[in-house]
Amino acid sequence: MRFDIFTTLPQMFNGPLTESILKRAVQKGLLDIRLHDIRLWATDKHHTTDDYPYGGGAGMVMKPEPIFAAVEEVVGATREERGDTPIILLGPGGEVFNQRLAEDLARLPRLALICGHYEGVDERVREHLATRELSIGDYVLSGGEVAAMVVVDAVSRLVPGVIKAESRQDESHTSGLLEYPHYTRPAVFRDMPVPDVLIGGNHGAVDRWRREKALERTRRLRPDLVARWEE
Ligand SMILES: C[S@@+](CC[C@H](N)C(=O)[O-])C[C@H]1O[C@@H](n2cnc3c(N)ncnc32)[C@H](O)[C@@H]1O
Repeated sequence: MRFDIFTTLPQMFNGPLTESILKRAVQKGLLDIRLHDIRLWATDKHHTTDDYPYGGGAGMVMKPEPIFAAVEEVVGATREERGDTPIILLGPGGEVFNQRLAEDLARLPRLALICGHYEGVDERVREHLATRELSIGDYVLSGGEVAAMVVVDAVSRLVPGVIKAESRQDESHTSGLLEYPHYTRPAVFRDMPVPDVLIGGNHGAVDRWRREKALERTRRLRPDLVARWEE
């Protein structure tokens, strides 16, 4: 799966994309993550990507020209060239990203993500370039990079081969419930023992215990999810 990330701060992605699961998936050729520095498409000698807001007010606004030029060159200049590739603007006013959206996006071969900054992007980017807007939650970040990393991470681990399919099966938000609790060695840590059922070797009993615990934990922590799961 290919990701094209449009940003003025490509160096922010060092680390999240170059470690652990994502790093291995890139090395295996399962993911192709390309960072595009919007500044390279700014035509003035200072590579300006922001300007004062029309109508006044605090903060700067990201200019439309370099963002349009970058996306048009990399993804396509016309709707036909861009095909089904979603051009996703990250923003606090967008549809709130969740596991279901991650699953939908993971079925696509390619995604483009635009990271805003300052007061955000010129409205013409939202209206005439982006095909959807995603928020990672009801709070305001200082830039879209962290949000893009969240989307890339959540979508990537659903791409076949990136992690074992079994690892995803019972995960929180996949079945509709939160996942059951996990334990590892030692069997007793500071007088806190691992539940006997997990040590007994009875797989049927382990499965039943896990189902009960998943339901109990979801009821306690996220009763809203249980209501939806029972529908
Ligand atoms: C400081 S924010 C702009 C907030 C904007 N003035 C508003 O009130 O809606 C700068 C950039 O961070 C990103 N951003 C902030 N919060 C976000 C969120 N919850 N989800 C996704 N992106 C977010 C967007 O790309 C946004 O353009």
